[in-house]
Amino acid sequence: MTQVRVFPDLQHLSRAAAECVVSAARHGVRARGRFSVALAGGSTPRVLYRLLACTPYRAQMPWPSVHCFWTDERCVPPEHAKSNFRMAHTAWLSHVPLPPANIHRIVVEQRTPAQAAARYAQVLRAFFPVADGAWPAFDLILLGLGEDGHTAALFPRSPAVQETRRLVTPSVGDRPALPRITLTLPVLNHARQLLWLVAGRRKAAIVRLVLQGQASPETVPARRVRPVTGDACWFLDQAAARQLLAS
Ligand code: 6PG
Repeated sequence: MTQVRVFPDLQHLSRAAAECVVSAARHGVRARGRFSVALAGGSTPRVLYRLLACTPYRAQMPWPSVHCFWTDERCVPPEHAKSNFRMAHTAWLSHVPLPPANIHRIVVEQRTPAQAAARYAQVLRAFFPVADGAWPAFDLILLGLGEDGHTAALFPRSPAVQETRRLVTPSVGDRPALPRITLTLPVLNHARQLLWLVAGRRKAAIVRLVLQGQASPETVPARRVRPVTGDACWFLDQAAARQLLAS
């Protein structure tokens, strides 16, 4: 099921997203004894991450059972300004009692992108006991949306979008134009819950294209993100939703 919720601004959107994360965490721990979340990169989630480090959300999270992964990473050191790990760690993870062993960073240094992708796939296989041919099921995956319709590091016309066997694959993105490592579409689509966080008027055109347009999924990777059995929820601010036709 896909749900779309529109909020007045990024702050309201992020508060609702924080409530979603807490609820998904508590449900995951009740159901499976742990909560696995893959974090989006970029800038939009920063407000959410900062909120999760503060009252009341900080006290509501079952930290010892929370496991953080990333949807994608730029091939830069973890202390680099463009690192998705650094953004989440600075805004959130360094301020909460999450066991360091529960932070599953995509390690890119001293590895080629292919080696880093293969190593992260091993990390996923060690954490998610899935049979061959099956797919890990994150409790929650947070996703952003680029103006070109990319999500994670699945960029238009990129071979990474066509990857349907591996869990993790190298990719090349722009803005910044850096080699990346990304979860593949089957991993995104096997999540129990997908939460899209999209804000700003620059995103209004692509939001309409993805949610209401006829564009081919080949040219708009975000249109290929369709949960197999899970739910998808789009959290938009009014600026990003402004071109959506009232349904
Ligand atoms: C990344 C992200 C990417 C991001 C979108 C939106 O590594 O950049 O994974 O998919 O979510 O580009 O980015 P903004 O939130 O900065 O607009």
